[in-house]
Amino acid sequence: MTGDDPLEESESGEPLTDGGAAGADDVALDPWGSSSVSDYRKLFEEFGIEEFDEILEEVPNPHYLMRRGVIFGHRDYRPVAEALQNDEPAAVLSGFMPTGDPHIGHKLVFDEIIWHQQQGADAYALIADLEANSARGMSWEEIDDHARDYLLSLLALGFDPEAGELYRQSTNRKLQDLAFELGADANFSEFQAIYGFDGETDVSHMQSVVTQMADILYPQLEEPKPTVIPVGPDQDPHVRLARDLAERMRFFKVSEAYASFELEPEERALVADFYADLEPADFDDDQLRCVHVAEAIEETPLSELAVDADTLSSVLTKLEEAGMEPIRPRTRFFDRRATDEAFDALIDAVEGEKRVYENHVDAFDLDRAEAEELAREVEVDNGGYGFQPPSSIYHRFMTGLTGGKMSSSIPASHISLLDDPEDGYDKVKAATTGGRETAEEQREKGGKADECPVYELYAYLLSGDDDEFAKRVYDECVGGERLCGDCKEQAAQLMKEFLEDHQEKRDEVEDLLEDADIELESPRRR
Ligand code: TRP
Ligand code: SF4
Repeated sequence: MTGDDPLEESESGEPLTDGGAAGADDVALDPWGSSSVSDYRKLFEEFGIEEFDEILEEVPNPHYLMRRGVIFGHRDYRPVAEALQNDEPAAVLSGFMPTGDPHIGHKLVFDEIIWHQQQGADAYALIADLEANSARGMSWEEIDDHARDYLLSLLALGFDPEAGELYRQSTNRKLQDLAFELGADANFSEFQAIYGFDGETDVSHMQSVVTQMADILYPQLEEPKPTVIPVGPDQDPHVRLARDLAERMRFFKVSEAYASFELEPEERALVADFYADLEPADFDDDQLRCVHVAEAIEETPLSELAVDADTLSSVLTKLEEAGMEPIRPRTRFFDRRATDEAFDALIDAVEGEKRVYENHVDAFDLDRAEAEELAREVEVDNGGYGFQPPSSIYHRFMTGLTGGKMSSSIPASHISLLDDPEDGYDKVKAATTGGRETAEEQREKGGKADECPVYELYAYLLSGDDDEFAKRVYDECVGGERLCGDCKEQAAQLMKEFLEDHQEKRDEVEDLLEDADIELESPRRR
């Protein structure tokens, strides 16, 4: 997770809890932390991330991280869920900056990739070595060491390298070509606004951003398909930029229109309202024309219109200039960056009544969805990418074992997948809990599982797929039947077993990694 991402800053100060029943407005004691997400509300309100719960039902065999609200948010995940449901092409991709040991926070992302792969998606995992070198100043040697560790853990957890693709940013030529191309559509002011880059930011760092944009669109190089990027919410600015760039690369922009000229969205909404209310039969030749709508709008007091005076005067000017042109709803293909051949091919491909203008084609017998599909088809047939905007899912950050943030720089706060199992055991035993001052008070009031890093370990990792077990721990805790000493002993034991098992599997997949199609050593050394 990059330190330069605005979201991480704002999240870092406060300890992030599992959500759960913590909110005062929440009556149900919900072990999965899905009904109250007060800490994360800002992400929904300010950044437009959507709540994962709302689409949970559309996901086939949802992963336990989804069921328990650990995956709490998404952007546009529906097309991916639908593709999985219908056995249609879909992809999953995430990237790892090899700046330290892989830890249990990374395991969430490994699991998310692997789950999507098992549901039938093409799976990609990449080592963000360019980003680690440029944004974090890691040497190539350090990067290689860590990269190996990430990959071993990913394979040990079940990633299938035959079916999926692994790569490192620096040696992937196709990726770099795509990055270069995308870079032509992004500029410095934008990076400044999104990432806070300034005149001191080195250019390689900026290059690592376009590289990440290329990572995110890479699964669609061969053909467009719904693609999900599982990440922490700190990566959301990258996702938004990638969605923007995907759109900018498209040959045609499909929109709804009412006459031959362009209207701004607010203007269009106004015309749409009047179009819906006016009766063509009330006009001379049973035709509703631009002037008629202009007149009707002019007769309406501004206070009854949902637009400001500037919008009003602009829409009136456009309608009056068009005069006797009929108002007729249509679907518009605007030529954004199509080649001449692609534009001609589109004109041929539009069925039914159509009008061709210099920069757009209007179709009268196609609805919006049909038009979108056609635009993509023509684009792909004519050498374009036809990118679908990438989707994302967001998981909660784990609370550090010592309270506060889980941080790679505080060893006691996190458990590395490489930790000696005994050390893992000790770290859990030493963890902060949501327990009360005394056993007596705990029996009386119950523990605060929602604020307890140990409970988080149960929910995020130690219970695995066993929802009942996770729920039992939760219920017993908040019901006062479970005391922290025993609870931690059990968690510590499970953690030790998990680490032993995982590390054994890491040894077993060594060969798999040697055979995998990824360069484990960077040719660079400085
Ligand atoms: N920037 C990500 C991080 O800091 C790593 C990354 C690189 C990535 N490319 C990506 C994540 C593509 C998701 C998708 O961890
Ligand atoms: Fe946390 Fe367990 Fe104590 Fe509850 S009983 S507060 S879950 S350590």
